[in-house]
Amino acid sequence: MAMLNLPLLGSDLTYYQIAFDAYKRHMYHEGFEDMWKDICGMFTFDDSKEDEICVLIVGPGKGENEIKVLNFVLKRHSSVYVRVIEPDKTAVSHFKEECDRLKKTHPNLRYEFFMNTFQEYIAKSRQSEDESKFHFVVCIASLYYMDDITDALEHLHIMIKSTGIIVSDMIDHTSSVGKLFIKQWEDETYPVTLQSGKGIKDVLQRKGWQFELKYRRAELDVSLLLDNEPEGTLVLDFIMHVVNFRHAAPKTYVDEIFSLIWQMVENVGDKKMLSANREVVVISK
Ligand SMILES: C[S@@+](CC[C@H](N)C(=O)[O-])C[C@H]1O[C@@H](n2cnc3c(N)ncnc32)[C@H](O)[C@@H]1O
Repeated sequence: MAMLNLPLLGSDLTYYQIAFDAYKRHMYHEGFEDMWKDICGMFTFDDSKEDEICVLIVGPGKGENEIKVLNFVLKRHSSVYVRVIEPDKTAVSHFKEECDRLKKTHPNLRYEFFMNTFQEYIAKSRQSEDESKFHFVVCIASLYYMDDITDALEHLHIMIKSTGIIVSDMIDHTSSVGKLFIKQWEDETYPVTLQSGKGIKDVLQRKGWQFELKYRRAELDVSLLLDNEPEGTLVLDFIMHVVNFRHAAPKTYVDEIFSLIWQMVENVGDKKMLSANREVVVISK
């Protein structure tokens, strides 16, 4: 089959954020706070020898999750430096406003924004021979977008201090939504190629790096998607990473995706849910 010629979600960052907001509105998470509170205690920071905790955040979008993580970090120590890498301008200004608000109660919080993809950031820091090191690298649902996951992980690994950690929080590819993602990403005729948690683990195993896995439950309400409501269209577009997937894709492909969704869906009260569990990998040196 020839490569499908579809309008990609990533080519329209404004629509990307609108579709992602809809996806989040229908996503029900359990245990984000408890898990990330624990993770924030997993890197070493010695306040008798070091001035501030250094955090690198890749792909925070508007930063709703990341601001919670920063609050936990600020409980460990009042001086925190954060470097943020996010390519979307609107998302950057939103997250920056959140950081400005947090700084009012935490004056020793410092932050710097790079409006770039991580790939662009890597290229620039190699050119400038930037040797900054971080205690904690936070990648929540962002490593999907690395062209070369081995290169991205190698660069992150160089960027952490000897007792630092890199944390990636992604969809578990064995959950229903994860299976839907993987089905397309691994199909060579589909125009979207994204990384998965499985791909990350393969790299870590090849490299022999230490890592720990954590899981938490999440479910996506797909009732509106199956009822063909406009809000459901946004959720479907985010899952498929294609603008207006239902109308843009060939009917046979749309039917195949809907049949897969119907096979996996679970009725919970009057809602139709897909499991969308998260797999979190904590990488250390
Ligand atoms: C699924 S959203 C996750 C946002 C946020 N971390 C959260 O959990 O709500 C992915 C984010 O990664 C950003 N992104 C996309 N490609 C990227 C890249 N190559 N490098 C860094 N960030 C990227 C997008 O702009 C978007 O804000």
